[in-house]
Amino acid sequence: MRIAVVGMGFVGLVTATVLADRGNTVTCIDINEKRIDWLKKGDLYIYEPLLRELLLKNKTRVDFSSDYSNIKGNEVAFICVPTPTVDGRIDLSYVRSAVLSAKSVDSDVIITVKSTVVPGTASALSSHIGRDIVSNPEFLREGNAIDDTIHPNRIVIGGKNSDYLEKVKRIWEFTGAPVILTTNENAELIKYGSNSFLATKISFINEIANLCENIPGTDVATVAQGMGMDHRIGKDFLRAGIGFGGSCLPKDTTALVSYAKERGVELKIIKSAIDVNNERIEHAVEMIKKELGNLNGKNVCVLGISFKEDTNDVRESKSLELINALMSMGAKIQAYDPSVKEVDGVEMVGKIEELTQCDCVVIASEWKEFETNAIYEKSKKVIDLKRVVNIQTHPTVLRIGAYNAKD
Ligand code: UGA
Repeated sequence: MRIAVVGMGFVGLVTATVLADRGNTVTCIDINEKRIDWLKKGDLYIYEPLLRELLLKNKTRVDFSSDYSNIKGNEVAFICVPTPTVDGRIDLSYVRSAVLSAKSVDSDVIITVKSTVVPGTASALSSHIGRDIVSNPEFLREGNAIDDTIHPNRIVIGGKNSDYLEKVKRIWEFTGAPVILTTNENAELIKYGSNSFLATKISFINEIANLCENIPGTDVATVAQGMGMDHRIGKDFLRAGIGFGGSCLPKDTTALVSYAKERGVELKIIKSAIDVNNERIEHAVEMIKKELGNLNGKNVCVLGISFKEDTNDVRESKSLELINALMSMGAKIQAYDPSVKEVDGVEMVGKIEELTQCDCVVIASEWKEFETNAIYEKSKKVIDLKRVVNIQTHPTVLRIGAYNAKD
């Protein structure tokens, strides 16, 4: 098929690349000319495993442009523009403008919204442009995006026009995943419900982690393992730590709560998940203070800057929140991250070995390479806020979510 993808952020770029790899001809559009220039030169501004290689492999089937008129002649246009949360509410202006532009250059193209939008958005836009719009939310994770796109758990397609639904369904047939054909509103809410549930799982286990820190003999990793073996609960998203960051879970939970409130519905559980998440950094700082006392003048080495492993995305990074909190208390920070090399006001090093001796090493994300013995040469005190360290080999490491004998 001839497919246009509008918005060359994370979701757009991955979607375009995978669709090109499946033999489609893909026109990639972004109004940011700088991004388009970079992409034309093969410069990727995001780090995502396998993405560069796959894009290179399919470069003859992918075109980049900052001109919306290139949507013309494509059968389907996927809208993948951002939907930020501004003052607690979703900002739909980019989606609106992308949909209107697509309609104005080609009145036949099937406009398909991948961006995360609150229920009712696609229907309202459909009425506005006088043409049905398809909702096809995205469930990929950064760091695992290519695999998630090729092997999704499900494909959700919402809309009224059965020909459009069938066409979009055909595009994703190669995945072999079960397909839910439904209304635009259900599709939109499935996305919010999923992200909010995942966020709730994380906050739930983080509360259990707090409890474990107060009960001798307990460790949240084992508790989560035991809980997760029950298929009704599931083992995923039960990793305790410093909470959820990134460009999706924080923004989507907040947007859903305010969307519901406008309809007179209070989402108490999701609100609590957000509250628990907002307290994680204060909790982590308390752990560090217990070890180091007054933080003023203390040297702390932080491992991990991006919001999670295998990405260079720092949006809503809990690690950055932690670093800012520690610096505000007078701590001196050195940091290392495999993919983030510059952070305002923080001394970054190129590899773990280059960190200098410090009062404490803090592990703030789950990169595989943090499982190295090199960190124990930097300080006698290591605090594991993401449960990376193998406790059998390093029993003295202080871990979030476990009872610490010194308490
Ligand atoms: C999330 C969802 O997982 C995707 O399904 C969804 O498509 C995406 O948002 C989106 O809306 O676009 P993402 O934000 O890329 O994906 O990353 P996650 O793997 O969900 O991690 C989010 C945060 O939760 C990270 O800070 C991570 O460290 C944290 N997390 C995750 C935990 O603290 N514990 C866990 O068990 C899992």
